[in-house]
Amino acid sequence: MASANHLNRRHFVMATSAAAALAAAPRRSLAQSANEQMSVAVIGAGGRGGSHVQGYLKNPKTRITYVVDIDPKAAANRAGQIEEAQGTRPEVVADMRRVFDDKSVDAISTATPNHWHALCGVWAMQAGKDAYIEKPICHNIAEGRALVEAAKKYNRICQVGTQCRSQPAIIEAMKWLHDGGIGEVNFARGLCYKRRKSIGPLGDYEIPKEVDFNLWSGPAPYTDPKLTRQRFHYDWHWQRLYGNGDSGNQGPHQTDIARWGLGVERHPNRILTYGGRLGYKAERNDPNYVDAGDTANTEVSIFDYGDKCLVFETRGLSVDNSADELLNKLFKSTRGNKIGVVFYGSEGYLAQLSYNKCIAYDKDLNEIKTFGGGADHFGNFVDGCFSRDSSSLSSDAMCGHLSAGLSHLGNISYYLGESNPSSPDEIQAALSKIPSMDDDEATLSRTVQHLKDNGVDLEATPLSLGPMLEFDPEQEKFTNNDAANELLTREYREGFECPTGDKV
Ligand SMILES: NC(=O)c1ccc[n+]([C@@H]2O[C@H](COP(=O)([O-])OP(=O)(O)OC[C@H]3O[C@@H](n4cnc5c(N)ncnc54)[C@H](O)[C@@H]3O)[C@@H](O)[C@H]2O)c1
Repeated sequence: MASANHLNRRHFVMATSAAAALAAAPRRSLAQSANEQMSVAVIGAGGRGGSHVQGYLKNPKTRITYVVDIDPKAAANRAGQIEEAQGTRPEVVADMRRVFDDKSVDAISTATPNHWHALCGVWAMQAGKDAYIEKPICHNIAEGRALVEAAKKYNRICQVGTQCRSQPAIIEAMKWLHDGGIGEVNFARGLCYKRRKSIGPLGDYEIPKEVDFNLWSGPAPYTDPKLTRQRFHYDWHWQRLYGNGDSGNQGPHQTDIARWGLGVERHPNRILTYGGRLGYKAERNDPNYVDAGDTANTEVSIFDYGDKCLVFETRGLSVDNSADELLNKLFKSTRGNKIGVVFYGSEGYLAQLSYNKCIAYDKDLNEIKTFGGGADHFGNFVDGCFSRDSSSLSSDAMCGHLSAGLSHLGNISYYLGESNPSSPDEIQAALSKIPSMDDDEATLSRTVQHLKDNGVDLEATPLSLGPMLEFDPEQEKFTNNDAANELLTREYREGFECPTGDKV
């Protein structure tokens, strides 16, 4: 690993043959160095890694010099695409530490599974690289804090992959909201109503021979020689050792926008979650069926900020006809997925409906304003790398930490509640103790009806109810639950410990 002494020496790949001469030069401003390209290593060459590659290929200020993947086929595919587009083939490696040791690399851009995000980012910044890190920026709260501290300590540009932050549609809608467009706004609802079928039965599956499973596992436990899920790639999202369910997958986009609109630049004070991984027995028509996933596919988390409240709802079963009248009107449909954020104002509603579309309504649901337009989030990161101005980033490490944090805090309440199967009445009794502004009862009854409509027998497979957790947003510790505090971090494998505190 490169030492911190290297941190002020930035290196560039030149579009011209003068690369060597510039290699040791300190970074100059973009205006002084229009011909310069920064050298980027893309780490994780799966589905999202492909979007990273496209983002840098189209940017004249970047050159992709490495593709890192523990799956040689995935890496070779991406390297081929890059070679065709940029004329030079990036180096292909399996171990990201090779990139950190190479002083000619300016930045890394990582789209690995979630359990790798923070360690990859911290190692990169310790080695003097700037870092674009996919959402959720971390797999747990302590890791998010480590990234915030690393970006500060090593003076690195660190952007999180919540690309909505760079879209004019959403930037303008948030400004209009903050300017009072729908009056006073104290409540936002984030929705991930997104059909997710079972990932197959829990089992004992072969690990593909070609992948390096030791490196894939990294900071997570090494479960060799078997996998418990059928599909190696992507479905890790639904196994908590690696992923964070949809509240940590789709969630960080919407909780981020919800936080932004509500103006809450901090963690919440109280958290309560109810939910379950339900409905797959009915989906498979087999009462003994056990799905390989262990994250919730049905989850309602209530985040209480004192004067503001944010609710995030995840639904993975069929979502047709399962929203309320207001949501159906705002999303202009009773059927299909609904992914977005609704702000409830004293004078109307604002709905974020996609990455580049928001619509505002008055109280009578007349459309009063629309917002559109997209922009380049990777470009925002690259510009930040050249200007060295972290404040120009649309979503820095802290922003990523707070938004990913909501998924982690919500999941902690959910995980602790798994031992507490509860009836809707028991959940309602707990909800009534939260001094929040949500329509708790209506949200619960809609959720219960949605489950019944999907064939879930709530007597046989009940919802679970998590504890109401009190959180100290400054100290980043729970004040009423020791078991919850243990879930703020994880046990790391030797050699893959994510540095925290003084070790960052
Ligand atoms: N911002 C967005 O809109 C958006 C969209 C999709 C996915 N994502 C995020 O991108 C990440 C990747 O998602 P995906 O759908 O591409 O997953 P995926 O499983 O399809 O791909 C992950 C890739 O990373 C590789 N990998 C695993 N461990 C690695 C390691 N240690 N070093 C190098 N490569 C490693 C895998 O082999 C695989 O090719 C996730 O964290 C996801 O949340 C973000």
